[in-house]
Amino acid sequence: MPNEEILGVAKLINESKRVVVLTGAGISVESGIPDFRGPDGLWKRFSPDKVGTITSFLSNPEDWWKIAQEIAPVFFNAEPNPGHIAIAELEKMGKVEAIITQNIDGLHQKAGSKNVIEVHGNVRNASCIQCKKKHSIEYVVSEVGKGNFTPQCTECDGIVKIDVVMFGEMLPEEAISEAYRLAQECDLLIVVGSSLVVYPVAALPGMVLNRGAKTVIINEEKTGYTKYADYHIYGKAGKILPQVVEALKEI
Ligand code: APR
Repeated sequence: MPNEEILGVAKLINESKRVVVLTGAGISVESGIPDFRGPDGLWKRFSPDKVGTITSFLSNPEDWWKIAQEIAPVFFNAEPNPGHIAIAELEKMGKVEAIITQNIDGLHQKAGSKNVIEVHGNVRNASCIQCKKKHSIEYVVSEVGKGNFTPQCTECDGIVKIDVVMFGEMLPEEAISEAYRLAQECDLLIVVGSSLVVYPVAALPGMVLNRGAKTVIINEEKTGYTKYADYHIYGKAGKILPQVVEALKEI
């Protein structure tokens, strides 16, 4: 028998017409990918100033690539977990309109989600920072694998960078405007696995609340929006979300 909170969230989803999900790194932790600010987060091991900013990347791409090479296997071997699969099922059931994700791992798409808005880019492509020419991730991985920690553009010899948004960079215009549009139009935003501290994405729940729409947070830790949310279910997304789907099927 689902507990009261699970039932309450399932009822909210059932009553809502336009449900949007916003995910962060926490939903991929059960797939083996560390988050950033949780107890074993990446920013506990590496300094975001040293490896997370565009200036640190440009001033010392070697360092960035060496760290990327260390965590790359975790990324490329990761599989969707029951949390990703539950969200894909909600979309298939017609209960979720879109998934806005801060994650770059592509696990929502791998789980079968269709309408995924990647506001922080993805690790599937790379681009030359000078002439913007697109390069495959395979090209970059093979260059770094050969010990070339500054993969060059095959067109202009510029530096090639993976298409993920680093601190100090603009977010992909189309993705973030779509995310804003969805936050302005949904009647329920479900946040999963995000500390909600990085803007502009962290502004989305406030946009939803300011319109009197509903919010649900599924997260292991408290967030700045927890006190305003209709529900904050503490715990693992991979455990909670399948229970929400099951409860929804019972309604
Ligand atoms: N289930 C639910 N929540 C979890 C789980 C889990 N299995 N594992 C971790 N969490 C929670 C953590 O408690 C934490 O509050 O997920 C949250 C992850 O927060 P962050 O690590 O800050 O990740 P995120 O919010 O996605 O960070 C936003 O910051 O560094 C940048 O670009 C990076 O996209 C990232 C952005």
